[in-house]
Amino acid sequence: MKLLVTAGPTREPIDPVRYLTNRSSGKMGYAIADAAAHAGHRVLLISGPTSLDVPDGVDFIPVETAAEMFAAVESHLPRMDAAVFAAAVADYTPAAPAARKIKKSGDSLSLELVKTRDILGSARGGIGFTGFLVGFAAETEDVEANARLKLAAKGCDLIVANDVSRTDIGFDSHENEALLVFPDRTELFPKAPKHDLAIRIVSMLGG
Ligand code: CTP
Repeated sequence: MKLLVTAGPTREPIDPVRYLTNRSSGKMGYAIADAAAHAGHRVLLISGPTSLDVPDGVDFIPVETAAEMFAAVESHLPRMDAAVFAAAVADYTPAAPAARKIKKSGDSLSLELVKTRDILGSARGGIGFTGFLVGFAAETEDVEANARLKLAAKGCDLIVANDVSRTDIGFDSHENEALLVFPDRTELFPKAPKHDLAIRIVSMLGG
C-alpha cells in the first residue's frame, strides 16, 4: 500500500534568526516509515527538522513550518491508502514574523500567536481522505478519554496515545508505551523500543 507519514517538530519563525519549536525528536515517525518500507509498502515521509537519517527506500519531503507541512500533506494525501500523523505540529505560530532581527529594547516583549491549521483534523473533511487514518495524542492527563475524543473529532481509525508527563518514554526517548485507541476497543502497548511499536502500528494499517 501507499503510506504517508508525518514526523518531527515544526519550526515557526519569529524573525530571521529565531523560531518556536518543541521537543519532538522525530524518532517515532521515522521508525514507522522504516518499518513500513521493510514491510514492502511505498512510503512518503514528510518531516520537520530532525537529526535523523531518512530510512532506506523511503521518499522524503523536508518541511519547516506547520503551513509547509499542511501544503505537502494536502498535495500528496489524496493518492495514499493510509496515513500516520506522528508529527508534533505547532498549534500556534507568530502572527507576523519580523522581516528583520528583533532588537533588544524594552524590559518585556509580547509575541502574538495565531492558530495553525490542524492537518490531521483536515484529512477527512477538508482534504477528503478516505484511507486508513492514524493520529497521535500527546496527553498529560485522562489519556484514554482525551484520545477517544480526538479519535471521534478527527475521524481517525486509530489514535496512538502517549502520556507525555512521563520522562522515561516519548519525546527524546528510544522507548514508548502507548494506548492504542480504536473506535471499538483500547489496547495497551507496554513499554518497548519505538521500533517495536512502529511494527505494531504498521501491522494495523488497513484495519
Ligand atoms: N496535528 C496536526 N496538525 C496540527 C496539530 C496536530 O496534524 N496543527 C496532529 C498531530 O500530528 C497528532 C494529532 O494531531 O497526530 C494530535 O496532536 P495533539 O497535539 O495531541 O492534539 P491537538 O489536536 O493539537 O490538541 P491539544 O494539543 O489541545 O491536546
